[in-house]
Amino acid sequence: MKLLQLAAAAALAAALVPAVDRQADAADTVYPPLRADVNGDYNINIQDMVLLSKYLLGSGTLSAEQASRADFDGDGTVDTFDLIGLRSSYVYNCTNTPLGTWVGEGFSGTRYFWFDESGEGTLVRNDRETATAFRLTKSGCNMSFSISGGAPAAASIAWLDSEHFYLSWGGSPELFTYRSSVRFDKGPFLKGEYVSDAGKSYSLSCFSGTCDSEPISIMPMGTRAQFVYSDGTIRSGDFSRMDKYHFTMRWDDGTTENFTRREITVVDGITYVNGILIANKTYPLPSTYAPGGLTAEFNTAFAKMQSAAKADGLNISICSGYRSYSYQAQLYNGYVARDGKTKADTYSARPGHSEHQTGLAADINYAGDWFNSTPEAKWLAANCWKYGFIIRYPAGKESITGYKYESWHVRYLGEELAGLVYNSGLTLEEYLCIDSKYTY
Ligand code: DAL
Ligand code: ZN
Repeated sequence: MKLLQLAAAAALAAALVPAVDRQADAADTVYPPLRADVNGDYNINIQDMVLLSKYLLGSGTLSAEQASRADFDGDGTVDTFDLIGLRSSYVYNCTNTPLGTWVGEGFSGTRYFWFDESGEGTLVRNDRETATAFRLTKSGCNMSFSISGGAPAAASIAWLDSEHFYLSWGGSPELFTYRSSVRFDKGPFLKGEYVSDAGKSYSLSCFSGTCDSEPISIMPMGTRAQFVYSDGTIRSGDFSRMDKYHFTMRWDDGTTENFTRREITVVDGITYVNGILIANKTYPLPSTYAPGGLTAEFNTAFAKMQSAAKADGLNISICSGYRSYSYQAQLYNGYVARDGKTKADTYSARPGHSEHQTGLAADINYAGDWFNSTPEAKWLAANCWKYGFIIRYPAGKESITGYKYESWHVRYLGEELAGLVYNSGLTLEEYLCIDSKYTY
């Protein structure tokens, strides 16, 4: 066998038989007993017949567990009717091949198998964003899975009922449950917490999850997907992805549902959305949160941006960087005294709500409307994302960010996220699907 073939064989074995994962998962799976499986190896074969026959002929014994599995008809005694049952079960397993989409549990995480009438199939693991094509050949209850150039992986099948069967991979069982006659295909592989503009909250784990805490299953089908809701509603539609945090379903009924990934965690009173530290009108920082200055990441990225601006003939510098809780309180109270609370709230954050307290935001050159029309402001708006910054309070988005346009206020997000937010054309609030509103 060529090296390439060996590698392919190893890849298939890894896809179908990753022994490392098996034990941990197996412990969590409840395996219903397999009637007629006398020796308990999740196969129904000649060994079970021999054990049962010997017992019936008086030349062998069965343990209590073996006897309960041997009692095929469940009448409390082990007799020749059970041997007939075992035979019929054996014949059923030999002659029936699964078709459609099946979910395997307990051998190697949650695995999805598509079985085609032609013997072509696809395997997807819940936690891996890959789909592996296989070819299935079945001889009796022995099933052989192969991918091109690979050595086959062998399993035997034993049916529990028409919607459940076991595959035994060298003695280790994987319990399968019928899922659908719909064929799944690569992507979308959706994982994480999402909210949609239909007002629903989803927690997704590839093919399964919850919608408003009710179980949901998802069938990816290339550029389409099917959602099966707990009330039995099945919705199909076209799937498209804006970026790794956003996707859209254009349902076949003509409606559209936009999904935003949003995982909110609060650590020591600090709110993170998808791991991004947030300070706005909805999400305050504790008064004790005091990084003491702009973060090292901010400073490094800012220095880079400053050099780039310089190369373009422009000077940018920080006119207000880190502000402590108490300094923000002084500033805000001063503005309230001058302009009144309602007006002050449109341009100054209440203490605890200012991004300046994060050490990840700063005002550039001049914090006032005069700055808006300067070449520096235009340069920042067009280029700051390249260095990991966004203009945090864009024009026309006052009702979303909670603040009037600030051409001078940049927030550091890191280059990747700043680029994604910039390209989305959304404010950070819209991008993360969060509010910025005082509750007091
Ligand atoms: N000017 C911004 C909103 C602040 O006070 O943090
Ligand atoms: Zn600012």
